[in-house]
Amino acid sequence: MSAAPMSRVSPMFPSTVLLIGGAGFIGSHVARLLAARNVRVVVPTRRRDRAKHLILLPTVDVVEADVHDPAELARLMHGADAVINFVGILHSRSGEPWGADFDRAHVALPRALGTAARAAGVERIIHVSALGAGADAPSGYLRSKAAGEVALGDSGVASTIFRPSLVYGDGECFLRLFARLLGVFPVMPLAGADTRYQPVHVRDVARCIVHALGADEVIGQVYPLCGPKVYSMRELVRMTGRTIGRERPVIGLPGPLATLQALALEFAPGPTLMSRDNLLSMRVDSLCPAGCTLPFGFSAAVLDNEIAECLVDFTPTDRFARMRSKAHR
Ligand SMILES: NC(=O)c1ccc[n+]([C@@H]2O[C@H](COP(=O)([O-])OP(=O)(O)OC[C@H]3O[C@@H](n4cnc5c(N)ncnc54)[C@H](OP(=O)(O)O)[C@@H]3O)[C@@H](O)[C@H]2O)c1
Repeated sequence: MSAAPMSRVSPMFPSTVLLIGGAGFIGSHVARLLAARNVRVVVPTRRRDRAKHLILLPTVDVVEADVHDPAELARLMHGADAVINFVGILHSRSGEPWGADFDRAHVALPRALGTAARAAGVERIIHVSALGAGADAPSGYLRSKAAGEVALGDSGVASTIFRPSLVYGDGECFLRLFARLLGVFPVMPLAGADTRYQPVHVRDVARCIVHALGADEVIGQVYPLCGPKVYSMRELVRMTGRTIGRERPVIGLPGPLATLQALALEFAPGPTLMSRDNLLSMRVDSLCPAGCTLPFGFSAAVLDNEIAECLVDFTPTDRFARMRSKAHR
């Protein structure tokens, strides 16, 4: 149960909201919450088939668009009362102080969004950044996220920034990768084993964002978003093993071996699972200031209570059900 929101909510909740990157994990949750409130939602995507899960929502329009094209952006802004930016990537070509792909997605786009929103008279932008974003952060990902926050602020549009820690929930989460690896390897070699996180449920992230759309005091604020408990990466892998019935020894990789592993995964065929830049992000803990989890008086879900739902299909019960169904029993 969550506490009642404490902040003042503006009577003017937006009636049309543009969700840039809204077909992704967090954006889709926000789209569902807004649709449930009968808010008109526009979701541009590079490929409409990636947004199939949103098409049936009654007030949601999914449109194929290139949000990097200023003319298309201007068209999308038309009629929107608010914009939320969810665009983010984990991997980029390398470069200093960050790679070209990070620059395009994390810096140039927020700048363009701010400019287009001002020109269209859109009253507010909510921007999803990342916990640990900072000009002196160890990775290009985190440095570019910080530069994007600044670029958006420089545009002069009224903005609110959310910085989540690792986000999980609804059957989609970073622990599923560990679950797959634990199914294959007898021991788990782990980079960044001692880095600490406060994973936050996607439902909590989404409701904070939606709440902010209707609140006045959020303008110009930056909100970290965390779950209530701190876990090291090693603890997260062990919890995953316990939940799926595949406990394996976890071996923390020292710096040079971790870099070698990241390098191998960066250049392995198929989708990139990890890069050297991801490893650099792991040099710093991803924690909220002590005692702070969610804003607006919301109370946050605890990962221990949600992990089985997060690892759906991997738990022993799910595996047994699958075997029975394969055997037609
Ligand atoms: N998930 C987490 O644990 C976490 C933690 C901290 C911060 N964040 C931040 O939260 C935001 C949302 O995360 P998420 O997990 O929902 O991400 P996601 O599922 O990967 O969705 C991101 C969306 O961004 C769009 N996108 C990606 N690259 C793009 C590009 N180059 N140009 C235009 N659009 C692009 C994609 O849209 P289409 O493919 O539909 O075009 C995608 O739907 C991101 O900024 C992320 O950095 C996430």
